[in-house]
Amino acid sequence: MSESQSGLSRVLRAAAARVPEPRTAHRLLRRLTHPLLPDDYSSLVYPLWSSRELRGEVVSVRREAEDVVTLVIKPGWGASPRYQPGQYLGIGVLVEGRWTWRSYSLTSAPTSGRGEYSVTVKAMPEGLLSNHIVGTVEPGTIVRLAAPAGDFHLPSPTPPKIMFVTAGSGITPVMGMLRSLDRRAVNDEFPDVVHVHSVRERKDTLFHEELLALEKTQPGYTMHLRVTSEEGRIDAAQMSALVPDWAERPTWACGPNAMLDELAEHFDATDRDDLYVERFTVNRDAGASGGTVTFGSTGKTVELDGATTILEGGEKVGVQMPFGCRMGICQTCVVGLEDGHVRDLRNGTDHGPGERIQTCVSVACGDVEIKI
Ligand SMILES: Cc1cc2nc3c(=O)[nH]c(=O)nc-3n(C[C@H](O)[C@H](O)[C@H](O)COP(=O)(O)OP(=O)(O)OC[C@H]3O[C@@H](n4cnc5c(N)ncnc54)[C@H](O)[C@@H]3O)c2cc1C
Ligand code: FES
Repeated sequence: MSESQSGLSRVLRAAAARVPEPRTAHRLLRRLTHPLLPDDYSSLVYPLWSSRELRGEVVSVRREAEDVVTLVIKPGWGASPRYQPGQYLGIGVLVEGRWTWRSYSLTSAPTSGRGEYSVTVKAMPEGLLSNHIVGTVEPGTIVRLAAPAGDFHLPSPTPPKIMFVTAGSGITPVMGMLRSLDRRAVNDEFPDVVHVHSVRERKDTLFHEELLALEKTQPGYTMHLRVTSEEGRIDAAQMSALVPDWAERPTWACGPNAMLDELAEHFDATDRDDLYVERFTVNRDAGASGGTVTFGSTGKTVELDGATTILEGGEKVGVQMPFGCRMGICQTCVVGLEDGHVRDLRNGTDHGPGERIQTCVSVACGDVEIKI
């Protein structure tokens, strides 16, 4: 960009920050730019000016630990400031020329104004996007966004007694809930919250200072920190000793699948139906053989192993299929299976021709044709 262009861009950015009603402004722009679309001009000078897709700008990157960062994202036109604490945000980041999408729980509390989103990302071993975000994303990066979604949030009215069970980076959606309860405590009473949080090492505790401060300012909040390298993983019997009234507490839990499976077993065994879980990953080792996947009318094919999902496979060869959470939660990715068999990574269930499948959690068992 030349000096005069960047000067113009600065002026337009400043003007954009003051534009109060995006739809009206876009209508005016559409008249001015006809027959081309306003986006053809506007996003050139100010990337957050797009009515075609939701965008955001990373305005700050805060390092929480060696392998964890928090991104604060200023949403562009059309992005809703309204969401339920605990929901996740879809984020697309340009990695080696390709938009790569993942879901991240919102750690921010919703505000009444346009507000900003924050998400906290931990680099996963050999993970594509998480390592890119933790290693290279800087303030000023433009990201694509999918509107906040998900059922993992507190009901209204908030129950008077609550339990949170989290481990490691699974604290993120609960952090959004705690920040929101704290903010709302100006008008509403902070509920009676017991939070059991496990970390491998004490130094790994995300948001530790903030949680300790919350214990001091909100008498309703109690945190039990379990350091598993010293005390081992907490089991149901120990949980009962630690939180004697936990049978009276609806529970929101997020962490490794093994922890969530154990909790779910305990709730099932005690006939309780008030456990709400958020899972970040699926077990990819489902014993599927993989195979050649053909994407219907596109005529494109890809050779996949038994751990790469049909959705990821399509993206490898430039077949864009609809998706949302990418974790089997939202059903956005459902398509028909024309031929062959796929396995659902969440539960090992096989699906055959004529069935509808969720591409984000399905892997090939032999050659497969997808109806798109
Ligand atoms: C609702 C929701 C909320 C979430 N919130 C957060 C959050 O707040 N913070 C956070 O850090 N994460 C969160 N996640 C997880 C996040 O969406 C990503 O899954 C995570 O960052 C890893 O993405 P990645 O691109 O780095 O890894 P990917 O490249 O997607 O890989 C994930 C893991 O699978 C392995 N893998 C990938 N492909 C294969 C294969 N073919 N064979 C074998 N192994 C394979 C990788 O080695 C890696 O360990 C959330 C997920 C969901 C669904
Ligand atoms: S993308 Fe949400 S269920 Fe598949």
